[in-house]
Amino acid sequence: MARTHPSDRALVRHWADGLARPVLDAGCGPGQWTDFLASGGTPAHGLDLVPDFVARARQQYPSLRFDLGCSEALPDATGSLGGVLAWYSLIHHEPDAIGLPLTEFARVIQPGGGLLIGYFEGATVEKFDHAVTAAYRWPADGSPDSWPRRASRWSRRTPAPRRATVPTGRSSLAVRPDWPICNQSPSLR
Ligand SMILES: C[S@@+](CC[C@H](N)C(=O)[O-])C[C@H]1O[C@@H](n2cnc3c(N)ncnc32)[C@H](O)[C@@H]1O
Repeated sequence: MARTHPSDRALVRHWADGLARPVLDAGCGPGQWTDFLASGGTPAHGLDLVPDFVARARQQYPSLRFDLGCSEALPDATGSLGGVLAWYSLIHHEPDAIGLPLTEFARVIQPGGGLLIGYFEGATVEKFDHAVTAAYRWPADGSPDSWPRRASRWSRRTPAPRRATVPTGRSSLAVRPDWPICNQSPSLR
């Protein structure tokens, strides 16, 4: 956590402090943000699709729960969470499929709960080379359910790290039954 920016830690802490129920750290990597949440008094558990990350998180933070799984098919019950933290874990999703994890987040978050997404901002949806695999920048305007539809009209942008909160709503995203489960970032699996 020492390498994270103080403003990021303050943002996550402030966001989590207002939540009534446990928080899922979706795409938790080695689990440092899950531990940060739990250490600050917010019950939290993590989930990631990379076995090595989950193993490392379990070893580093043995008192916390870490699940191996996909943001597109969460093990959590409907409405059981105060919030979901997706800290730079959606950046690799193909724009056309971004609705799947967002729909799943909306399912598990209780009404009035919170979703905090860390991502790279740009003027339009744009693919760029990330250290691990390709990632996407997203504009900060618009609601989550407008992102997939508008993606085809977006073409280029300027880079800038960005954090933002977005409202969640059970009805804001439509589930597409043809979306495969966890079909993103195959190189990470
Ligand atoms: C850029 S890392 C961020 C990790 C961590 N949130 C952090 O801030 O250090 C992206 C993480 O998202 C995970 N991830 C990507 N796609 C995922 C998916 N569909 N379901 C669960 N985890 C996913 C990756 O395995 C990776 O650990």
